[in-house]
Amino acid sequence: MEISKLNKNITPSGTMAISNKARLLKEQGKPVIGFGAGEPDFPTPAHVIEDVKIASENPTYHKYSAVGGLKILRDEISRTTAEYSNFEVDADNVVVTNGGKQAILTTFMSLLDPGDEVLIPSPYWTTYPEAVKISGGQPVIVDTSFENDFKVTVKELENKLTEKTKALVWVSPSNPTGVVYSKEEALEIYNWAFERDIWILSDELYEHLVYEGITSPSPATIDKDFEKTVIVNGVAKAYSMTGWRVGWILGNDKVIGLSKKIQSHATSNVANISQVAAYSALKNGLDSTNEMKKAFNKRREYALKQFDNINNIKVPKATGAFYVFPDISHYTKGLIENVSSSIELCDWLLEKYFIAFVPGEVFGKEGFLRCSYALSDNDLEEGLTRLKDALDSI
Ligand SMILES: Cc1ncc(COP(=O)(O)O)c(C=O)c1O
Repeated sequence: MEISKLNKNITPSGTMAISNKARLLKEQGKPVIGFGAGEPDFPTPAHVIEDVKIASENPTYHKYSAVGGLKILRDEISRTTAEYSNFEVDADNVVVTNGGKQAILTTFMSLLDPGDEVLIPSPYWTTYPEAVKISGGQPVIVDTSFENDFKVTVKELENKLTEKTKALVWVSPSNPTGVVYSKEEALEIYNWAFERDIWILSDELYEHLVYEGITSPSPATIDKDFEKTVIVNGVAKAYSMTGWRVGWILGNDKVIGLSKKIQSHATSNVANISQVAAYSALKNGLDSTNEMKKAFNKRREYALKQFDNINNIKVPKATGAFYVFPDISHYTKGLIENVSSSIELCDWLLEKYFIAFVPGEVFGKEGFLRCSYALSDNDLEEGLTRLKDALDSI
């Protein structure tokens, strides 16, 4: 019996593969330090836990609720969006989803027809192309250059434009590079897309994790009626709430209407207790986010400095999220026995030095690795010292 032709070529999440290998070594008692984490290493804020305890006693939350999300949460999303993101969205134009991931998949399912092409600047977060494929679309990878800090240009996009181009994936700050577009760079791309009638899916999961004050506006600050813009956001990264699984889609009536229909069959509502947790996080402001941000910024500066100090490594200036994405291609050219790719270099570093990084191939970029600095200061220092010792000895 055959399985789905449409979906049988979906690749599993590559960031999970390295975590699994690292976990196995840890179980064997090895002193593994993981730089693979795509999540903050801080606890969820205490007030969230308190509010959830109370809510769990409330029988209302033990039942199905509205597909689009609890009204209190949608109102809070609308309020905080206006306050932090600088554009207005009605609470009726919000769908609460099971994390940003589901928001992305549901958005593509709402936008795409078979064969529609979606422009995805590379290096890209590993889920985008797969979510496009699951939705029947065609991912079109747009290569960017290290020299431009991996920021996509109009020229690079124009080269990949066809009659089938339906949408552009936009993410700033970026996973995996940590790079943030300036206002001018972002506006140039938005205008290019809108003039060509292309949807922008703007992934704003890292909007609060921006250092050095450099930030990019959301496309919704220009496309105020969401004619060609869909925003995806959530509580995972900014409030250290990855496990609670709450994200959301902001869009026009048509996109939101269809997203709700899809969600009504896929999951019904998101777990009410998790929605209360997200409400509590938003209601209590950004104090805990800002605390976390301070720690991340210190580690970011440290990591950038350490990479700069390792021979033959170049690293783009990361000013957002909690990742850096160094060029390690010098070490994937046969200098080390059996190492001729970043996957093999990451395997070698893990097996020999017990440090786990995610190879660039996972993000469509051989010759690089992703280093998350969402780990303790001690581990960061010890792990990057091991890396320096390993590579400087070659
Ligand atoms: C760029 C980006 N978007 C979306 C997500 C999804 O976040 P979640 O599904 O945990 O809300 C992630 C998670 O790693 C991410 O890095």
